[in-house]
Amino acid sequence: MTPSTELQRPVIKTELPGPKSLEIINADHQYVTPSYPRPDYKLVADHASGVWITDPDGNTFLDCNAGVAVCSTGHCHPEIVAAITKQTNELIHLCGTDFYYRHMPELGKKLDEIVPIEGPTRTHFANSGAEAIETALKLAMYHTRRQKFISFFGSFHGRTLGALSLTSSKKAQRLGFMRQALDVTHVPYPNCFRCPFNKGKCSDGSCCMGTTDWIKNTLFKTTTPPEEVAGIVVEVVQGEGGYVPIPTEVIKEIRRLCDEHGIMLIIDEVQSGMGRTGKMFALDHHEGVKADIVCMAKGLGSGMPIGACTARADIMDWHKGAHASTFGGNPVAIASALKTIELLEGGIVENAREVGSYLEAGLRKLAEKHSVIGDVRGLGMMLGVEFVKADGSADAELRDKIEMACFNRGLIILGCGTNTIRFSPPLVLTKANVDVALEIFDEAIAESN
Ligand SMILES: Cc1ncc(COP(=O)(O)O)c(C=O)c1O
Repeated sequence: MTPSTELQRPVIKTELPGPKSLEIINADHQYVTPSYPRPDYKLVADHASGVWITDPDGNTFLDCNAGVAVCSTGHCHPEIVAAITKQTNELIHLCGTDFYYRHMPELGKKLDEIVPIEGPTRTHFANSGAEAIETALKLAMYHTRRQKFISFFGSFHGRTLGALSLTSSKKAQRLGFMRQALDVTHVPYPNCFRCPFNKGKCSDGSCCMGTTDWIKNTLFKTTTPPEEVAGIVVEVVQGEGGYVPIPTEVIKEIRRLCDEHGIMLIIDEVQSGMGRTGKMFALDHHEGVKADIVCMAKGLGSGMPIGACTARADIMDWHKGAHASTFGGNPVAIASALKTIELLEGGIVENAREVGSYLEAGLRKLAEKHSVIGDVRGLGMMLGVEFVKADGSADAELRDKIEMACFNRGLIILGCGTNTIRFSPPLVLTKANVDVALEIFDEAIAESN
């Protein structure tokens, strides 16, 4: 692991955003789509290194978001830059869907070794998380000859029409797009802090079995016969929905239901994968539970656009021409992914586990101090802090104020769910970085409250 950089604290020299940043923001507002879900604060990046981002005005921020859980090895890790640079000098593109190059089988083999799938696998390469999900949906339909899917409220699987049919973390993602492209039924996601079945709070996940009872006793017996279900799509730690981890008993029972009815268990590791949770995949936290199909993107390429859908080899049985992508599995993106995995295995996943639990402990201490923190949860460096009012209801306004106060002090964090702040830093974050982040977070909460 390469240490982040020498810099110890954020440096804010101008009002935010500064004049050069403002110019870019104004041009963006004129020429770029207004549909991006940007937060109230406005960060403009000029360059970045490790866990530090510098804006065009010379302000430097401590990054606890990693470009939304993407820059797993830190910004511009020298070995990633070297791997990309070398590859761009050798071969940038050839279209692996029509021709061959070594990179695809190399990454396919590596993923076969590490994904939480039993037995031999095969991989289809794409450019993004949504594309990896589209692949999984088409594959599950093709293999099972079924058309229905089960997904979870609060889930986020992407914004293309198939993936959007699964996605349900915010109204804004759906509003204006009318009917779903695919036949998807949504069920409540287990949440020990806010039990969707009003069974109170539990810490062992037992109350969350309401989710699988609902699938078995309501869906399967009414609108969604199991013999028509192609796949159940699960985020092992719900990401955009609020950083909510699934209890082991629930994912085990979902696996059992899939086995009983020949349904594909599709695990979306787009945000939770590639070491983020302190293990290579979030599903690895649930011993004995394996997926049929795993989707990856975000952290896989350390910032290069790459998505992958890895499935049991006997499931990936579709005919020539059934699915492909011009850019998917581009040699430069794969060179970055191979180096990323090497670095993750070489100590970064371990760092995510160790420093992640240090960060979690610090956040729990802050929860003792600030009663507005209702819950601290998550795994490794995928940690959520939920803000509540005195009556325990969600406090989205306070969350947004805290987000802004952190930015003004030079700490980059981002909301998820309605009232949660997520910590998804580059996985090279150090304990010294955590101390600075916690100090700023503490001040921001005190000021906003
Ligand atoms: C769990 C999950 N799945 C899929 C996606 C979609 O990925 P992309 O934005 O690369 O299409 C995301 C993006 O946030 C995600 O968090």
